[in-house]
Parts: sequence; C-alpha cells; structure tokens
Amino acid sequence: MEKLVSSWFNNKTLPQSYIFPPETRPGNHIIPRSNAIPVIDLGNASAHDRTLVVQQILKASQEFGFFQVINHGVSEDLMNDTMNVFKEFFELPAEDKADLYSEEFNRPCKLYTSSANYDGDKVHLWRDSLRHPCHPLEECIKIWPQKPTRYREIVAAYSIEAKKLGSRILDLICEGLGLDLGYFGDKLSESVVVSVNHYPPCPDPSLTLGIAKHCDPSLLTILLQGDVFGLQVLNDGKWIGVEPLHNAFVVNIGHQLEVVSNNRLKGAEHRVVTNSMVTRTTAAIFLNPSQDCIVEPAKSLIRADESPAYRAFKFKEFLYNYVTMGGNSEKSLEPFKLHG
Ligand code: OGA
Ligand code: NI
Repeated sequence: MEKLVSSWFNNKTLPQSYIFPPETRPGNHIIPRSNAIPVIDLGNASAHDRTLVVQQILKASQEFGFFQVINHGVSEDLMNDTMNVFKEFFELPAEDKADLYSEEFNRPCKLYTSSANYDGDKVHLWRDSLRHPCHPLEECIKIWPQKPTRYREIVAAYSIEAKKLGSRILDLICEGLGLDLGYFGDKLSESVVVSVNHYPPCPDPSLTLGIAKHCDPSLLTILLQGDVFGLQVLNDGKWIGVEPLHNAFVVNIGHQLEVVSNNRLKGAEHRVVTNSMVTRTTAAIFLNPSQDCIVEPAKSLIRADESPAYRAFKFKEFLYNYVTMGGNSEKSLEPFKLHG
C-alpha cells in the first residue's frame, strides 16, 4: 500500500526510480494538444450516413489507430457518475482500499501501482491503477470494490454500456473491412476488463511518465479520458496530444485488431504524461479475446497476391509474451509474425 504514488507523492521531489532515461522521458518540449485525432459522430451511424461513418472509422484506424466518438449513446449522467465513483474510490481512506492492494500478478481484482510487475520495473510509472474484469457481470461483480457504496451499481451499468458501444464500433469496423457480420462478436471480444488509472500531480513531469510508450494488447480499447490532458499518440514519429473532449470516448485499435486485419488497421503506440497541477483519472475498458480464443488474420482479408502477416495463436500465448516483453510493441508481436 505504501508503494502507491497516492500514498506519498505530497511534498516530495521525484524519486530517482521514477526518472526515465533521456531518450524516453518527455522533456520540456511542449506537445500541443491537438485536434489531429479524428472525432467521429456516431449519431449519424444509424441513418443514411452509415457508410460515411464506416469510412471515417476505417480511415482513422488506418492513419492513427485512434479516434474519438461523440453522440455514442452512453448517457452523460452515467459517464459523470462513473468518473466520479472512480475518483471517490481513490480518495477513500487507505484502510478501505488495503484489502484490494496486491502485487500478485494474477489477482483478478486489484489495486496496484506502476506496472503489473513493480519489482521488475526498470523505471516506475507515475500512476496507481485499479483493474478488474467486467464480464460476465454476475460472476465478477462479487470481487469488485464494495466502497464507495454505489461502486458496483454504477460500474455495472457503465461496463454494460461500454461493451455495447465497443461491439457497435467493432461492427462498423467489420463492415469497413468487409468481414462477415458479427466476426468480432463472441470469443474475440468476450473478455471485458476495466483499468482505472489515477495519476497524482507530479513534482517533475518532464522526467517521468504516467504510462510509458505502449500499444494496447486488447482487440479494442474505449477510454474515458476525463477533462485533464495527458494522453499522447505517436504518429509518423511525432507525439500528438489527444484533446480531452467533453462527453467523448477515445477509441483505439489494439494489437489483436492489427493481427485480425492483417495490418490494415494500426495499433498505435501511445503514452501518458503527468502534470504538476491536478490529479488525472481515466478509465480504459479493454475488449479482449477470451484466453483460449484463436487469433489470426481473417482469411477473407488475404488477397491472392498477399500472405498472412501472422500465424494463428491463442490470446493467452500473446499475453504471456506481451508481459514478458514489458509491453514493447515490436517484440510483442514478433513471435507470431510470418516472414515472406
Ligand atoms: C492505458 C492507456 C491512457 C490514459 O490504460 O492503456 O493508454 O490516458 N491509458 O490513461
Ligand atoms: Ni493504452
């Protein structure tokens, strides 16, 4: 518990173990917030503009691996309640959170700090995190935090809505890629995990990171970013800041979609910078394949003049390698790549 950044960050200088090497630290170079990442209006998706929305999503997923969605059907009240209950969780007194704190890799519902492997970190990350599965709800809700009192009720409603939204976006991507309807339903997106990130104000944001450069191991990620800036996406070798937009979700392509689409879609690398003024709280919902699900490039996407870029693998095989490689993007997919 005492390792949590939120337990000790006040009135301290940045400890050496949080200082990134010069090549990977953000430095003093200002990355402007940017509206380069496309904002897609899903309100259009049910009407005659569906084709346009499909094209916008495909284009954004090819160029950036990232987009934001508005008019997505999740109510503003539910988004606010969810963000508030996550913030309230981190504000609870230490004794109310102590049972959830764990450094055990496989504990399904846990509060931890930095990465899943604190002792193995080269450099620690300036964040605490609460992570747990959300599906099937009846089963996993029993292990969720019991405080704040409305946590289970709100997060249950939220995770159902987020999964629905994710499935809807996956259907649009499916249509855009020309895959059979429902390709991503069932096993490929069966597992739903929430990861709530809590980044306290940092004494020197130029030297450290909330999350280091990575690409999500998921199929698709739906992020509730809140209203504090911090997320940056790597595009053509440059970092782009993702503007916090009220009532929008940030959506990004994970490694599994990169594989299924045979690299038509891009799983973009991103990172989180800290700030010295305010706490930032975000919640990522990862739509993942089930552990034993076979992931492979969709056969119908491989043209006659093309070969699959990856071999088939079980999602758990991928995850094991991802964790072993410390989330390094290149190395995470390397053992599954087919050359030539
Ligand atoms: C993540 C992530 C971004 C953020 O949890 O994988 O990239 O802004 N989060 O917290
Ligand atoms: Ni991420």
